[in-house]
Amino acid sequence: MRYGAEDDDLERSTTNVMAFGLVLMLAFILVFPLYRILEPANREEARATQVASLAHEGENLWGFNCASCHGETGLGGIGPALNSKEFLQAASDEQIELIVAVGVPGSAMGAYSQDFAGPLTSAQIRALSTYLRSLEDEAPSNPNWRAGAPAEATADSGDDTAAADDSE
Ligand code: HEC
Repeated sequence: MRYGAEDDDLERSTTNVMAFGLVLMLAFILVFPLYRILEPANREEARATQVASLAHEGENLWGFNCASCHGETGLGGIGPALNSKEFLQAASDEQIELIVAVGVPGSAMGAYSQDFAGPLTSAQIRALSTYLRSLEDEAPSNPNWRAGAPAEATADSGDDTAAADDSE
């Protein structure tokens, strides 16, 4: 019986396992804060990408469904100018979505939600409000947005000139 020798082996392997465990624990201790620092940035980036792609979808929907009345770039036409700093500051996304969904009774503004016999899903309406919101930073000042296009943009033939005149 050579207990002594076996104890030596056992002790060596126990020490090895403990050292390994310690290294692993230190690695976790270091990695978790790193994860906590990097993860919000990743999520923020993913969110920005998502918003950009939703806005892009909204822009396409805008061209088909809204541009004829509100102008190709939203500067207004027979309908209000929605690409207006004042409008976008005054209206929340929820308000915009609600108006688009149910329409404005007694006006040319129809109900676009499929729930109200319109053509669009609520996801598409969300895309449209995301598109309009994406215009806010660069939106020209137009406090009379309900009057449609501002004077210089309405000049004669409408939307194309409006887009070109997009100064401040
Ligand atoms: C046939 C013309 C027409 C089309 C197409 C149209 N609108 Fe309108 N829209 C109007 C008119 C007119 C008003 C003003 C209604 C009122 O208040 O009398 C209006 C009002 C609005 C308002 C409220 C603006 C405010 O000043 O409060 C929003 C938001 C809006 N439209 C979004 C859209 C979106 C998004 C689309 C495309 C899905 C769209 N509209 C398509 C004519 C139109």
